Amino acid sequence: MSTLCSDQAILTLGGNEYKFPIVEGSEAERGIDISDLRAKTGHITLDKGYGNTGSCESAITYIDGEKGILRYRGIPIEQFAMGPTFTDVAWLLINGRLPTTAEYDEFSADLTRYANLDESMRHQFEGFPRVAPPMAILSAMINALSCFHPELHELEDESQFRHAAARLISKIRTIAAYAFRHSRGLPNIYPDPALRYVPNFMHMMFSQPYKQYICPQLVRDALNLILILHADHEQNCSTSTVRMVGSSGANLFASCAAGVCALWGPLHGGANVEVLTMLEQIHQGNITPEEYVKQAKSKDSKVRLMGFGHRVYKNFDPRAKMLGAIAEKLLPQLSAGDPLLEIARRLEEIALSDPYFIERQLYPNVDFYSGILLRAIGIPTNMFTVIFAIGRLPGWIAHWWEQNQTQANRIARPRQIYVGETHRDFVLRDNRR
Ligand code: ACO
Repeated sequence: MSTLCSDQAILTLGGNEYKFPIVEGSEAERGIDISDLRAKTGHITLDKGYGNTGSCESAITYIDGEKGILRYRGIPIEQFAMGPTFTDVAWLLINGRLPTTAEYDEFSADLTRYANLDESMRHQFEGFPRVAPPMAILSAMINALSCFHPELHELEDESQFRHAAARLISKIRTIAAYAFRHSRGLPNIYPDPALRYVPNFMHMMFSQPYKQYICPQLVRDALNLILILHADHEQNCSTSTVRMVGSSGANLFASCAAGVCALWGPLHGGANVEVLTMLEQIHQGNITPEEYVKQAKSKDSKVRLMGFGHRVYKNFDPRAKMLGAIAEKLLPQLSAGDPLLEIARRLEEIALSDPYFIERQLYPNVDFYSGILLRAIGIPTNMFTVIFAIGRLPGWIAHWWEQNQTQANRIARPRQIYVGETHRDFVLRDNRR
């Protein structure tokens, strides 16, 4: 809970003075509580894109965008490079603390137990055309889980919630892999209970009925870290979507399916695909890095330097720093080196020394290097944003539950400043001009 500060904000409006409480979070972030602004003054706030609006109090993730700080449940993101598994991080985000060995083993066993999809659900993949984007299938199939688990629409207690969360975290991987196999016309590969979270996903993606894919340790470590670095990012577009849908009382599966749709957009999770397209364009010689940056700066073009800029970070995104360092280290070991990494480095160098990017505080974000790494470990481009969704799922679940458990939860329902026609009368069709 935030604490109430001793000082207050004073708003002068129409000759009257109104006082509003100021609240402070555990990292000394302050906010003016305007919950009764409209009741007191008849006015609302207008904050396009919600850049100044706190929609909730949350204890899950802390970001200081000016200093480049990101912490999950208090733990700095950099410390997750030192060996925890994605399973550890998922448990941490959802439950608020690191699991004991017994809790970890139980959660891990649940992830293994729940990996299979109902057979009739498995057949539904055949109804999608080959060209269906895997993000569309992912969202549809996560929503379809609501049909297969009506008993989990209303979660009675924490234990039932944990099982619902484990089901979803386990099954998203199977759904993702089947969506990919479908796009290639390949037979589905059942999950292997002997394999842990990441290698099991890679097995379902790349094994053949006649040949098992063995996930190299390097690939496993890289994907594990990529998932961890995407696991939560407080009130971003997709998480806010999950919370908004959940605020109406919609179940966990339906809310997370909506999160997938929000993540898909090129200004959000879809940017990792756009980064690759941009690097490929430059690599194919269609445009030089210098010319691309020039276009990105031009007011007349719609081009943006993809993977650059962030609503919250006005400094280096710590996740981009970590991914850039891993790409540098792993790429020579995973492949003969990727020319796209060189191009990315060059773009970064040009942008970081250009006044346009310096003045606007535009730095590389998480998507700038993630695509290059995903490519190096063999993930096809149409699956990049799907991987992001697998990573982000524990965050969505943690936020959905946090909100569900908040006594004061109100349905999310912003207001607007209406700018349309004022009162006018309906005209019968024959009398219209
Ligand atoms: N390239 C060129 N100019 C940019 C870029 C960019 N990547 N990002 C922002 N700008 C410019 C804008 O044109 C604007 O300039 P102006 O003040 O002259 O009008 C200024 O910087 C502020 O930009 P906004 O769009 O107002 O910033 P906002 O906070 O709304 O958007 C966003 C943030 C969407 C991430 C933006 O920086 C962007 O489009 N980046 C590229 C897409 C991308 O990488 N998205 C992934 C974000 S991370 C994630 O979601 C996981």
